[in-house]
Amino acid sequence: MSTLVELDRLDKVYATGTGDVVALDGITLAIDEGEFVAVVGPSGCGKTTLLKILANIEQHTGGAGILGGKELGGNRSGDVGMVFQKATLLPWLDILANVLLPVTLKRRATRQDTAAALGLLEMVGLSEFARKRPHELSGGMQQRAAICRALVHEPSLLLLDEPFGALDAMTRDQLNVEVNRIWRETHKTAVLITHSIPEAVFLAERVIVMSPRPGRIIADIPIPFGKERTLDLLGTPEFAALSAQIRRFFEVKAA
Ligand SMILES: Nc1ncnc2c1ncn2[C@@H]1O[C@H](COP(=O)(O)OP(=O)(O)OP(=O)(O)O)[C@@H](O)[C@H]1O
Ligand SMILES: [Mg+2]
Repeated sequence: MSTLVELDRLDKVYATGTGDVVALDGITLAIDEGEFVAVVGPSGCGKTTLLKILANIEQHTGGAGILGGKELGGNRSGDVGMVFQKATLLPWLDILANVLLPVTLKRRATRQDTAAALGLLEMVGLSEFARKRPHELSGGMQQRAAICRALVHEPSLLLLDEPFGALDAMTRDQLNVEVNRIWRETHKTAVLITHSIPEAVFLAERVIVMSPRPGRIIADIPIPFGKERTLDLLGTPEFAALSAQIRRFFEVKAA
């Protein structure tokens, strides 16, 4: 198995009007092709910053990083698909056009692009909604469409930043099952940020735990449940034990 992402003592310092903010401090991390990694950590510890650096939206300020054989921060495009907490679909475009957006921002969509987009919509059960506008879909359906949009240009890395944080628990469980299936069917490498420890344990093959800001990696925990995950897993003692092990990192120590 080859390594897709390799971060070597990566730092990120934001220069602000009131001084420097150290968001990431010495992040060393390797992610294999096809792996599903979840990142958990307290609010403000630099998780979104880490994804933005991987997506080339932000530049790191120290250390080095490689994605798909190319240096981070260099001129790369199209190798990452990102899903945000809100679906961020454009209200005036229909769902198909929204899914095709990463393509049409660069060039005219071909018949193959449209077929690929429709195939993705079918995979998430939204075939009948291709010609609807975002407001005609539920929050969970919009988030499914956002996942299709992140996958339409065949990125090598799928980045998910709290994608289901705004959804109710049942929709969230259902989408977690879907994300697991999409990951298995598309063989993508995925990095998921979440505040939900059960969600991290349910979906990931490895859970990375970060410290409060400045974000450092304080644990890297393998999740040995195989690739296919079903909701039964949530009730098993093994699942509870791993979740508890991770939760202990966030316990406030009594004085
Ligand atoms: N563009 C920016 N300019 C200055 N500071 C920033 C910027 N973006 C983030 N920060 C700071 O960097 C730190 C990390 O922010 P980041 O958004 O990466 O955290 P996070 O772990 O994703 O938090 P949350 O869980 O709340 O989403 C925070 O202290 C934040 O204030
Ligand atoms: Mg964030």
